[in-house]
Amino acid sequence: MDFKNKIILAPMAGVTDYSFRKIARLQGADLCVSEMVSAKAIYYNDKKTATLIYTKGDDTPYGIQIFGHEPEIMKSASYLLSRGLYNPEKIDTPSGILEPLPSYIDINMGCPVKKIVNAGDGSALLKNPKLCKEIISACVEGSCLPVTVKIRAGWDESSINCVEIAKIAEQSGASAICVHGRTREQMYEPYANWDYIKMVKSAVKIPVIANGDIFTGSDAERILDHTGADSLMVGRGALGNPFIFGEIRAIFDKKPYTPPTIFEKIEVARKQVCSMVLEKGERVAIAEARKHLSWYLKGEKGSASVRNLVNQATTLEEINNIIDNYLETI
Ligand SMILES: Cc1cc2nc3c(=O)[nH]c(=O)nc-3n(C[C@H](O)[C@H](O)[C@H](O)COP(=O)(O)O)c2cc1C
Repeated sequence: MDFKNKIILAPMAGVTDYSFRKIARLQGADLCVSEMVSAKAIYYNDKKTATLIYTKGDDTPYGIQIFGHEPEIMKSASYLLSRGLYNPEKIDTPSGILEPLPSYIDINMGCPVKKIVNAGDGSALLKNPKLCKEIISACVEGSCLPVTVKIRAGWDESSINCVEIAKIAEQSGASAICVHGRTREQMYEPYANWDYIKMVKSAVKIPVIANGDIFTGSDAERILDHTGADSLMVGRGALGNPFIFGEIRAIFDKKPYTPPTIFEKIEVARKQVCSMVLEKGERVAIAEARKHLSWYLKGEKGSASVRNLVNQATTLEEINNIIDNYLETI
């Protein structure tokens, strides 16, 4: 698994499911990651977690991201996931393992959400470099696949330690490190400081993935120029805009790029919703699809009332009617 020269869709809880990843790939993303899942849930064979990492053969290369803070549990989760042995549904397969296998395991050391950090997980780990080392080493030992680590710049402005953690990750056998240029304290505001990514890039030899505030193709070009990073990862810039991957690819390939029309956008959005319905069933899919549709329509002429209607829809037929009516008005 090569982590260089990749355009990556960031892991986003409640967003980057199989259907969205598939759309992102079609638009030009090279690599996708599951949303974070609890290592403990994997360890205890929790059934619900299986839906969070659901994938199919056309979703590759694909990483599974785990969070937790107990090295032994993280090691077990890495062992089970990397070998297709986490199988709570007891699905019987010819090979005896659950396929398709992921391509790598990613460790979450950046999540800033209160519930996560209060449990000592996500970015809380950055406060304890020794524990980071134990966790990364344990995952590398447990996994038969490459292990990557996703971090923030540090816990807060007075404890920036991304370089220290990146070096630890490298020494512990990580195959790549992704750096979001913000501290935990900053959550998502204000801007990401790309200097931190640059500092990490000059400190380690493993591939560095730059993340934070890529909203356009030119942001992608700038972040690589600024940091010298090997790859880049896009999160919020892809919400309702998987086309950003095509835009970035066009810039890298020095090809002209034409942004999609509203009709093209809607066509892609419909594909995504249909895939969600097929994979999750209509009730769950439509409830989850509302936010995606809202993002797709954001900023489009006269879309405010459509977004309102979409937010109340409960069936695919209703969604299709609302969108058909909207398209007739523009
Ligand atoms: C809705 C949402 C959910 C997220 N969930 C995760 C997650 O599960 N794991 C993770 O490592 N980061 C998660 N992130 C952080 C993103 O992966 C990314 O690091 C962050 O948004 C910064 O990149 P951006 O400026 O391109 O959005 C999430 C971000 C958002 C907006």
